[in-house]
Amino acid sequence: MPQFPFTTKDGRTGLVRVATPGDAKAASAITRAVMNERPRTLMVFPEEFWSVRQWRRFRLGWESRGAWLVAELGGMLVGMVTIHRGDRASIRHTAEFGITVAADARDIGIGRALIEAMERWAREQGIIKVCLRVFVNNERAKSLYEKLGYEIEGVERRQVRFPDGEEIDTMLMAKFLA
Ligand SMILES: CC(C)(COP(=O)(O)OP(=O)(O)OC[C@H]1O[C@@H](n2cnc3c(N)ncnc32)[C@H](O)[C@@H]1OP(=O)(O)O)[C@@H](O)C(=O)NCCC(=O)NCCS
Repeated sequence: MPQFPFTTKDGRTGLVRVATPGDAKAASAITRAVMNERPRTLMVFPEEFWSVRQWRRFRLGWESRGAWLVAELGGMLVGMVTIHRGDRASIRHTAEFGITVAADARDIGIGRALIEAMERWAREQGIIKVCLRVFVNNERAKSLYEKLGYEIEGVERRQVRFPDGEEIDTMLMAKFLA
């Protein structure tokens, strides 16, 4: 399975690798913590939060349908990216990703390392267009995506609605790899 070493901004060596069933607990804990942050950044909400068992069931390796990658730093799991290829013939040249980094590991280059590794998967699979959705107020994420070459394609108004009634606009962004 492919592995991608990287260096953080503070000089530590980390590793992006394919997720394994053994990552389920740590990955779920990070998602749960980020889901509870405010302002919100993730579309997940508690009612549909994946259990460790579901995470293991839906996990992808490095395969044509998609890939789930995790970042490790100092032996700890600190972030993950999931990418899924378009499931209809007409959009099989596209893929959409989602990314989460633990709060105490942000702004040191882990997000960048995860996205660069994810793009390696996409190029290997012949994906032409990589897409994502981001909440319009998520400045850190938008800034990272723009630095990596993603461009705004549009805004979906009131696209996400949480149980407490909060509604958020989402921005569609994409990058052409070929
Ligand atoms: C968005 C996220 C994945 C980025 O991961 P990360 O490891 O923090 O990203 P990096 O450290 O590689 O890069 C972050 C960049 O944003 C910049 N940044 C941080 N806060 C910023 C802000 N408020 N406005 C603009 N840029 C900002 C950093 O300086 C850095 O840029 P640089 O590399 O030029 O210095 C991570 O912060 C995260 O998981 N956030 C919560 C969940 C989330 O938002 N997921 C994405 C949903 S679409």
